[in-house]
Amino acid sequence: MIVDGVDLAVRVGSVELAAPVMTASGTAGYGTEFASFFDLSTIGAVVTKSIAAFEWAGNPAPRVHPTPQGMINAVGLQGPGIESWLAHQLPKLLDTGATVVCSIWGRSVDDYRRAADALADAPGGVAAVEVNLSCPNLEGRGSIFAHDAELSADVVAATAGCGRPRWAKLSPNTDRIVDVAAAVADAGAEAVTVANTLLGLVFDPETWRPALGNGGGGLSGRAVHPVAVRAVHDVHQALPELPIVGVGGVASGWDAIEFLLAGASAVQVGTASFADPRACVRVRDELAAIVAERGIHRVIDVRAVV
Ligand SMILES: Cc1cc2nc3c(=O)[nH]c(=O)nc-3n(C[C@H](O)[C@H](O)[C@H](O)COP(=O)(O)O)c2cc1C
Repeated sequence: MIVDGVDLAVRVGSVELAAPVMTASGTAGYGTEFASFFDLSTIGAVVTKSIAAFEWAGNPAPRVHPTPQGMINAVGLQGPGIESWLAHQLPKLLDTGATVVCSIWGRSVDDYRRAADALADAPGGVAAVEVNLSCPNLEGRGSIFAHDAELSADVVAATAGCGRPRWAKLSPNTDRIVDVAAAVADAGAEAVTVANTLLGLVFDPETWRPALGNGGGGLSGRAVHPVAVRAVHDVHQALPELPIVGVGGVASGWDAIEFLLAGASAVQVGTASFADPRACVRVRDELAAIVAERGIHRVIDVRAVV
């Protein structure tokens, strides 16, 4: 699509997107939640909250809490399960003309396999599957999948049954993010999404107890933006051929451009959507205006100017 004379079309690996700005998993629901705020077909993609092969209740409340320049959450991956999503939410979402990226999660390699297999016959409008690797592994190898290159590769290899491009969503809570990125690319991920939330903990000044029902949680929003830009940069420097989706603290067009300069092909907007459900569209338009002012006519040329 063209905004301000700028062609916004980008590719993430083999996936063509009308614009370089998508929703971030977990911040825009599973379906048409944002459709009353903007035309869902005019952003790059709607990325669903991570869905498992099974229904899941999530964590006790409170699940979200504000922090300086951001928020902390421990929603705990509440969800209806893939079969229910395919039957009840996906059809309405596809009717909007949105490009859909389905995010999946699991507690074991086999959970991920089952979630991916359930997507094998999903309509082509599900353009990609984002594999959320920031989940605890309950099978004894004792780690968050995304903190362990080998485990992450095992998960990605197990999700081939979805029959569509896979983006592995990485964690910034490891100094081995480049190793993990290389391992998931070898295992079949077409792109990496960088990055999920930063581990955090907030205490409530009234109760002197953790502010979230779960105790700790994941920090997101503007506070994490430079961390995520650095992670994208490091992965891109080490693996220049690997497509990257940048996510973390994007609230303006310039924030998005920083990710593109660091090496991302597209970005996602999460926390900013809680304050402004039209944030994705605003970021898209601000990005186009900045790029136009610089005399660039295609967003894919942004990196070429530096
Ligand atoms: C309330 C909330 C729920 C989230 N749920 C998910 C999720 O289900 N799966 C996932 O991969 N990331 C999830 N995330 C992480 C975001 O997709 C994103 O990676 C992170 O928040 C950083 O981007 P942001 O600063 O723009 O929010 C969630 C974030 C928030 C704030």
